[in-house]
Amino acid sequence: TSVDVTGLDYEQGDHPDFMHKEMREQPDAVDRCLRGRLDHRFSSARLDGVGLTPQDYQRIRRVKLLGCGSAYYAGQVGAQLIEELARIPADAEPASEFRYRNPVVDPDTLYVAISQSGETLDTLAAVQELKRKGGHVIGVVNAVGSTIARECGHGVFLHAGPEVSVAATKSFTTMAVALAMLALDLGRVRDLSITEGRRLVAGLAELPRTIASVLADEEAVAEVARKYAGAEHMFFVGRVRGWPVAREGAQKLKEISYVHAEAYQASELKHGPLALINPAMPTVVLLPDDELLPKNIATVEEIKARGGPVIAVTDATLPADLATDVIRVPRAHDSLTPITLSVPLQLFAYHLARTLGRDVDRPRNLAKSVTVE
Ligand code: G6P
Repeated sequence: TSVDVTGLDYEQGDHPDFMHKEMREQPDAVDRCLRGRLDHRFSSARLDGVGLTPQDYQRIRRVKLLGCGSAYYAGQVGAQLIEELARIPADAEPASEFRYRNPVVDPDTLYVAISQSGETLDTLAAVQELKRKGGHVIGVVNAVGSTIARECGHGVFLHAGPEVSVAATKSFTTMAVALAMLALDLGRVRDLSITEGRRLVAGLAELPRTIASVLADEEAVAEVARKYAGAEHMFFVGRVRGWPVAREGAQKLKEISYVHAEAYQASELKHGPLALINPAMPTVVLLPDDELLPKNIATVEEIKARGGPVIAVTDATLPADLATDVIRVPRAHDSLTPITLSVPLQLFAYHLARTLGRDVDRPRNLAKSVTVE
């Protein structure tokens, strides 16, 4: 199959579909996104397109990230990175909500509009509303020359290359990488030390290799996915860094397999949804190897005690027999684990959907970019 994507002749090659091709392209896409942007001398990132001076950076009091679907979840990853690395209050909101709620637009807030296509109507409308009210908005966009990129005027291009499959894969990953660089750059102008900056630059530079090694384990993930293909409902749970990953993982599964998947904060399980746990309700638990690991292990135990199967997705060494199934990823810099943990969830959704015979590139009722009301 060949698809005309903005004049490019884009081929599926040896892959069974575009989603597979696009998942496998992620090490290269991340490499392109990083290229020329890591500043080893100052242990920072150089994002020339953002068009803000260090003085402008100093004046930012808040960051608000806007996008739809996977772009919104990437925005949530970005908001956490900005708070963590730059200590600036940051949050993400669906652009589709923001545009309709008469938002208070604040001159000391940096607004970031995130979009693969650069054509999503809700995100564009949010940008226009912001501009009309005097807000400063930059774009994190894949499609060069797109409407959102032009409206913003400044920002960061992803350089992920064309993405055809409805499910965002390499665009989600590169959005998170671009936002990690923005967080690093903001952090280094503010309080992030040169040592911390250096660790993060090294972590980012390592990402293409780390992602390649996650992808090399595709068959192991596929095996787990096939095992759960009969489930009617699934939970995806994570805390803090694992939370946007859980949401994006559930989104992928819903979109392409039509299996009901619900994401929940692991910490909130006991406040309601634990009642739903039973042997027919598998839960994917994100267990990044960070300070919250013991809490996440306790979550796994709570689910198991109620007879729920657990698929652990982790870069940590877990106690033997903790989970029903384990999907392992290599260690990355702590702040970057939302990126490395997301990749196996794409593979999981993909193989589960294929087992059910779904058309993964063109799921029912969905469009690659929603440009109408
Ligand atoms: C649609 C797609 C999603 C995508 C969202 C935002 O709903 O089905 O996969 O995440 O639009 O698209 P954008 O091009 O703005 O990133």
